[in-house]
Amino acid sequence: MQPPSLHPPASKVGITLDQHIANQMELSPGATGHFTSLLYQIALAAKLVDARVRQAGLADILGYTGEVNVQGEQVQKLDEVANETFITVLKRGGRCCAIASEELEDAVFPEGTGRYAVTMDPLDGSSNIDCNVSIGTIFGVYRRKSDHHGPADVGDLLQPGRDLRAAGYVIYGSSTMLVYSTGKSVHGFTLDPTIGEFFLSHDNIRIPQRGSTFSCNEGNSIRWDESTRRWVAYLKEQHKETKRPYTARYVGSLVADAHRTLLKGGIFAYPADNKSPQGKLRLLYEANPFAFIFEAAGGKACDGKRRILDIDAKELHQRTPLVIGSPDDVADFERFARSSEPGSGSST
Ligand code: AHG
Ligand code: MN
Ligand code: MN
Repeated sequence: MQPPSLHPPASKVGITLDQHIANQMELSPGATGHFTSLLYQIALAAKLVDARVRQAGLADILGYTGEVNVQGEQVQKLDEVANETFITVLKRGGRCCAIASEELEDAVFPEGTGRYAVTMDPLDGSSNIDCNVSIGTIFGVYRRKSDHHGPADVGDLLQPGRDLRAAGYVIYGSSTMLVYSTGKSVHGFTLDPTIGEFFLSHDNIRIPQRGSTFSCNEGNSIRWDESTRRWVAYLKEQHKETKRPYTARYVGSLVADAHRTLLKGGIFAYPADNKSPQGKLRLLYEANPFAFIFEAAGGKACDGKRRILDIDAKELHQRTPLVIGSPDDVADFERFARSSEPGSGSST
């Protein structure tokens, strides 16, 4: 008995990421192809990083460089490899006028007349690199605001998330997936490593209205405010009709926790605490891209009080509390957050 072929017959070949992007752009009048080629470059960089992630244990690129980045965090060799890969590919592609990266204190302004600004977390989940837990890349794409005949500036990057033209992430897990949205819908592509091609595997991802999983680092609970503690206690109560107690799931890589929440529903929260009053996660290249994706998939994204996509970006590495997930689950979180406001009086 022949084993099933890994490669389906020609008639069954799936839709590639490049084809999907081109089809999406056909729907945009006046498309010049610049945006399409930028997304192709991001996909290429993702494949290059995937190859390095898969070799990391053997190619001596695990571990620390000994440096500390602008975040005050130990820089992992793979952080640097991923950062350099995306910067090099985006520079060479000529479609990008400005790049904000978690790994760089200042923005990078590639030569040329690129019309798009990219925000990125080149390697998310660094603390999980050397224990083989899923990690990822997160990106956002803005149309530049400055005149493309002149120099780009940081204003091209400091735009609210609601003005994103596209956002996505790559998850280097048991398989490598690239998930992206241009605002109306969300689509997932799985990399076939034998031919180096991303194929459509999750068409039009929609998040469930409510889930039964919560994802947060309860190790921080002693530093949370009272309403956050009451929210988690509420999820742990026994109450059949509202599917409580919820299941707890926390990987510690935003990309992995967010991806599971997007596909299965529920809620992910990295709330503010008295050590990080602005939260830990960064607005430009972690919160905004995921907020854009979750809203496009029918979910919600807030900082507890405000819609993430409406937050004004004032500096490249600005932090924000982040709560993303099923609309009903995020609404529950907001109800508890409101209950802590002076004069709210409401008991939740
Ligand atoms: P990065 O590795 O890009 O610095 O991001 C790490 C972030 C995010 O991936 C994750 O949700 C969060 O840090 C986990 O923080 P804790 O370890 O404090 O829970
Ligand atoms: Mn990172
Ligand atoms: Mn990150």
